Parts: sequence; structure tokens; C-alpha cells
Amino acid sequence: MKYSKRIIALLLVCVTALAAFAGCSNNTSETKATESTTAESTTAESTTAESKTDGIDYMALVNKTHALPDDWEKKLETIHMKNSIKDDVEVEKKAYDAYLRLKADLEKEDIFVDLDSARRSVAEQQRIMDEFTEEYGADYAAKTVAKPGYSEHHTGLALDLYLIIDGKDVTENEDMIKYTDIWAKIHKLLPNYGFILRYLEGSEHITGYGYEPWHIRYIDNVEVAKEITDKGITFEEYLKTASGNKVEIDYGKSKLYSKDELKEAVVQIKCQFAFYKGLELKSIRYAGDDAATDKKLKQFQKKNPDAKYTKVAEFLMDFSTSSDTSGTTFTPNHDYDEYQWWLAASKDDGWEIVDFGY
Ligand code: DAL
Ligand code: ZN
Repeated sequence: MKYSKRIIALLLVCVTALAAFAGCSNNTSETKATESTTAESTTAESTTAESKTDGIDYMALVNKTHALPDDWEKKLETIHMKNSIKDDVEVEKKAYDAYLRLKADLEKEDIFVDLDSARRSVAEQQRIMDEFTEEYGADYAAKTVAKPGYSEHHTGLALDLYLIIDGKDVTENEDMIKYTDIWAKIHKLLPNYGFILRYLEGSEHITGYGYEPWHIRYIDNVEVAKEITDKGITFEEYLKTASGNKVEIDYGKSKLYSKDELKEAVVQIKCQFAFYKGLELKSIRYAGDDAATDKKLKQFQKKNPDAKYTKVAEFLMDFSTSSDTSGTTFTPNHDYDEYQWWLAASKDDGWEIVDFGY
């Protein structure tokens, strides 16, 4: 997946601004910068990893609060394939077989896809993090690249697709995301092969990531995949680690910010929220233009002069906690109202969460 920094700022990107928490990744722009102009057919060079003693749990949950299980590597069997741009992609064996069947079915509808990225080691994730740090700076890298050990890509069951349109590889996220009709057709077929769409639009507070039409997850169970897809729920909701309650979002009326700007800010708050265990989000509302004072802006400019913030916004959140708030400072079984979130942004970059709490 590839994103230009500017586009990331403009799209609904998960941003984590506080060092106390790990980065909220939307897309990690982790693959090489090369993009071929002609699509070549995918070559599947299958090299099986060493044989394993026991099988993996295809329903394993890996997200912001669930790390890759310790014994995963010992059980994982993968193959390596070359995609149309000659990148090596490693995929869990059964997931790859299912992917090939999905791909063949899609081709009957004149939809052509290939694999951009699938299994990544923790070391690879760290390398991506380092690359981003070098290219965009530590802050940006921390906000964009998933924390090593917590990426679903470690499982080998998460596949990032790219599109081949009129023979051309479309690998940049900002380009791919425009093909909404094609993604809709792809998503419809996913469950037939045991795949689900993992990062749904609007569910960022549950998944912790922005909408990723290309990131699919193999769960090795067609019936469950169909149920998840038909209900339009996240994997977390199916596994009951998150509630599927309706979240109210109130963007209010603003003369300072467009609805898209406010939406982008809300996605970031929701992504940050997903780092906390045992919370149920109820509502988020824009606190209004009156809250976005020069005084507040100056306060955050002073705190971080390098960021060159030009705008500030406040949001208010209602949420409740469950009996298990371990790893957080929140009181169990408690309702939190009017919890404040402050975001700031410079002219060219997206919102950053600069403060939250009471
Ligand atoms: N882009 C997904 C969230 C990851 O980095 O694992
Ligand atoms: Zn992915």
C-alpha cells in the first residue's frame, strides 16, 4: 500500500498524537515505491515453509489491543508468490488458495486484482516504521505505521489487494479508493471464499483503523464470513470483543471547517479510542467554532512549535467503561460524559490529537 503524505493528510486517516499510545495505522505505505505501467500476469512461485506441528487459529483476533499470539510463527505455513510488479509476497497457505479462487471468480467479471502485501514479520513492520521515520519523521511514522506485533499482517491471513485497471497496476491507496464500484463487487464475493473486509468505514472506533477497501482477512469459514458480511459488522463485533451499539456523531455547524475536515478529525479520535480496552463509545460531537480560540491555538503552537499548527478544534465524547479497564486509568463500570478531545493541524497536514481528558 502506498500513500503520499499529503493525501494521507486529506483522507480519513487514523492519527495517534500522543506518545503514551502506539501508532494508529491506516495504511502504512509499506511497499516499494515502484509502480509498473503494464500489468503482467501474476507468477505464483510456491515455496512452502517448514512443516508445522499444529494448525493456526484462523479466527485469531489481532488488533490494537490484541497482539499476535506468541506461538503463531511456529504453526504458520506460508507460500511465496511474485505479484505483477515482481514483488515477493508471503501468504498463509490456505489463504492463498482461497485468494486464487476469489481472483479467478473476479476475473469472470473482468475485475483484476493482485496481492500487494500479505504476511509481514515483526521485524518487517519495524523496518517499515524505520523507513517512515526517515522519510516523514518520527511523529508521522508513529501515527501511520502499525505497532510491530499488533499488525494483522503478521498472521499471514491479511491480504492487501491492488487493482489492475485497463492493464495498469493501480497500487496507490488514494487512486485505488476511487474505484468504489469495483470494491463493492469484490467485497460481495469475499465471504464465498472465507474472507471478510476487515476495516469498515464508520467502525474506526472498533477496528482502530480507517476504511481500507483493499485489506481483506481470511477466516477459513464461509458461513461465518457470510454472517459477518451480511450483518455489515466488524470481526470484533462478531467475536464480541466490541459492542455494536450505534454511535452518534454530531458535526454541528461550523464556519471554520468543512464537514470533511470534521469527519477526518472524528476518524482520528475514533482510531485513538480503539487503543483503550473495555470502553463503549456512545457519541462524539463538535464543540463548536467558539471553542477554537486563538488562545487555544497558541497554547498548542507553544507546546509543539515545529508542527506549525494553523487550526484547532475541540470535540466532546460520551462513553462508558466495562468492568475490565485494565491497562487504562479509567474507572470500571462508569459513564464518562463530555470527555474532551483537542485536535490541531498545520496548513498542509492532517489533524493531530494534541490533548484529551477533562
Ligand atoms: N494497514 C494495517 C492496519 C496494518 O498496518 O496492519
Ligand atoms: Zn493491510
